[in-house]
Amino acid sequence: MDNTDLEIFLVATPGLETPLLAEAQEAGFAEARLAPGGVTVRGNLREVWRANLQLRGANKVLVRVGSFPAVHLAQLDKRARKFPWGVFLKPDVPVRVEATSRKSRIYHAGAARQRIEGAISDTLGAPISSEATVRVLLRIEKDICTLSLDTSGEALHKRGHKEAVAKAPMRETMAAMFLRNCGFDGSEPVLDPMCGSGTFVIEAAQIAMGLPPGRDRAFAFQDFAGFDPKAWAELRADWVATQTDTVFFGSDRNDGAIAAAQANASRAGVDGATQFQKRAVADLKPPMGGPGLVIVNPPYGARIGDEKRLRSLYGSFGKVMMSRFSGWRVGVVTSNQSLARATRLPLLPPGPIVDHGGTKIRLYQTEALP
Ligand SMILES: C[S@@+](CC[C@H](N)C(=O)[O-])C[C@H]1O[C@@H](n2cnc3c(N)ncnc32)[C@H](O)[C@@H]1O
Repeated sequence: MDNTDLEIFLVATPGLETPLLAEAQEAGFAEARLAPGGVTVRGNLREVWRANLQLRGANKVLVRVGSFPAVHLAQLDKRARKFPWGVFLKPDVPVRVEATSRKSRIYHAGAARQRIEGAISDTLGAPISSEATVRVLLRIEKDICTLSLDTSGEALHKRGHKEAVAKAPMRETMAAMFLRNCGFDGSEPVLDPMCGSGTFVIEAAQIAMGLPPGRDRAFAFQDFAGFDPKAWAELRADWVATQTDTVFFGSDRNDGAIAAAQANASRAGVDGATQFQKRAVADLKPPMGGPGLVIVNPPYGARIGDEKRLRSLYGSFGKVMMSRFSGWRVGVVTSNQSLARATRLPLLPPGPIVDHGGTKIRLYQTEALP
């Protein structure tokens, strides 16, 4: 396998592919292009590590390691046994295999998976385990088998800082991409007045301070064959936090949420740049240092009977924005268009539909308020 020019696939949250493409381009990844489900870039193994370490919007970083045609299981079995597994997998590290098949003569994904598992355990000796963090992915499409490795392991929204979780937390990868879609570049204050566990505020502070999102966690590629711990340690340490005077604010009416947000901010090392306060939306005032961006993901209300109460919450939020937040931009993330409209804010056309674990949500934005 040639490790110097790999096809690297960045898995996006459905609906947030475009900001991920922009992020990959800005971060200097070569040949960044949109592809179904994410963004492809090219580079060597160091670029694979760097994507895991630096990109805020990718949920996973996969690398394509091989591709061959196969029209029946015996052929797949033969080709899988010839595959140089030892180039990237270690005999003593357990492996998990996942397979999918579409429009192919090999239609039984489970049987295809077993062939790959057999080839890995017989030719390399690595144990197969459904619990393994090292994942080999087989995709069969129109009789072409493509093998990829999941180089991330645990999904990348798990930055390793959030232990305390309030209700319905936003994923960090989504929060970062919504901030980007709002034009946030780290240079203006951000306020989330229903901050829950503080995801938007903590992501915003990390962006402003230039902290790589993956600095405090482990990745599956650390268990690959040929992994170079010294080179990785150098890359991982190769950043300097930017000093920022900008402050990032979160408030919530719930005590538990504020405690969770503060604990998460301190684990992420951004407690110096963040402030959290117990406060109901009706009592909100613009913080110092503005105008900037208000971004919020209010409750959506899944239960019948919630709608009336929520209409009044969204309405009072909109009123507070219009009366006290002149010059601020507002971003509202919600699954319910009629609730977004209940804010009576001058909303621009909404962003694309984003899949938040099965719930379809969208970002509704304003320009700077009059
Ligand atoms: C969907 S959660 C936000 C989750 C958050 N984005 C996160 O990542 O953890 C909505 C939050 O709104 C808060 N909330 C609801 N009504 C409120 C009000 N009137 N004033 C302030 N906060 C309120 C709830 O306590 C809850 O934490």
